[in-house]
Amino acid sequence: MEKIINVGVISCSNMARGHMRGVVRHPKAELVAICDIDVEKLNKVGEEFNVARRYTDYKELIAQPDIDAVIIVTPDREHKDMAIAALEAGKHVLCEKPLALTREECVEIAEAVKKTDKKFMVGQICRYTPAFKAAKEIIDRGDIGELMFVESEYAHDYESILKPGNWRWDPLRNGVVGGGCHAVDLLRWIAGDPEEVQAYSNHKIFDPELPYDDSTIAIMKFPNNVIGKVFVSVACKRNYTMRSLFYGTKGTIICDNRSEKFQLYRTSINGVTEPILNPSKMNSEIPVDIPVAINNHNATAEFEDFASIILNDKEVTTTVYEGAKTVAACFAIVESAQTGKVVKPDYNF
Ligand SMILES: NC(=O)c1ccc[n+]([C@@H]2O[C@H](COP(=O)([O-])OP(=O)(O)OC[C@H]3O[C@@H](n4cnc5c(N)ncnc54)[C@H](O)[C@@H]3O)[C@@H](O)[C@H]2O)c1
Repeated sequence: MEKIINVGVISCSNMARGHMRGVVRHPKAELVAICDIDVEKLNKVGEEFNVARRYTDYKELIAQPDIDAVIIVTPDREHKDMAIAALEAGKHVLCEKPLALTREECVEIAEAVKKTDKKFMVGQICRYTPAFKAAKEIIDRGDIGELMFVESEYAHDYESILKPGNWRWDPLRNGVVGGGCHAVDLLRWIAGDPEEVQAYSNHKIFDPELPYDDSTIAIMKFPNNVIGKVFVSVACKRNYTMRSLFYGTKGTIICDNRSEKFQLYRTSINGVTEPILNPSKMNSEIPVDIPVAINNHNATAEFEDFASIILNDKEVTTTVYEGAKTVAACFAIVESAQTGKVVKPDYNF
């Protein structure tokens, strides 16, 4: 009989609904159960996706023997217990970013992953954002030469969601770890693990009671003598963006997660050394606009990858260590901003 992955999703938030759409669109997956402590939301989403098995206790969901895989989309502090319990119950797990909010929790999850033969993937969704995927392919092909500078930002005004009492109002969550992890992960994915970080932060916009600074800049040294920076703000007054910039020795990519095209400047095409752009005429100022789909929460592609890993018994792409290293780099940024010192991230998980 054809193998079908039975999936349970823990949380009925909007992001969880995005994951659910990814599951129901997949020809070899079925959304069989959902969970949320908010009963009203649980029933509403249950009706929307026509899911009869609804739980308010995640332990009941993961105890269901026919469920093969669980997607965890709950507040960050819940990830560790849910991830470990699901793995111990023999489920494959796709866990939202950030993997966890402390180093100890990351280590505990990694230990549980080591003990199982089930797949564990971290939902670093920017790896499925069309513009970022295309940028990485161009860079990996060498089309802009050797990387020398990388930059990304996570600029997202949380004014409407960040209130006292909300789970995001948590010093451990910090804008850098909770949201900035997207930009940090993007740069790690493209340029490798930052070796050193120097960061500065300020708090000029948000309620002063918010227990962390609302804006942070980090400059970083990457492997192969690549330099870079990340800017994170949960307060800046504009629409959400992850503006990103990649300078190579032969070209440049300027992209973000919410535009229908990105810009590629280069001195040669397909590795042909003859310059197609004449520097004397400053033609290198003319970029090629490359169209891309706008899909900054591409949960469908993420689930396709997860399902393919399960169905074909492939290696996980965004492993628990990838998720842990991204938060480790974020911790280093927070520590540097707080102490004023250069910090080397600790990737030893
Ligand atoms: N990949 C992305 O781009 C992206 C975007 C948004 C959120 N996220 C991540 O997804 C997670 C959830 O964020 P959100 O925006 O969906 O949050 P949210 O506050 O909108 O929703 C969280 C949901 O979890 C439910 N919940 C809380 N504790 C629970 C428990 N113990 N058992 C069952 N349900 C529980 C809440 O009732 C709520 O419905 C976070 O880790 C966040 O970082 C990722």
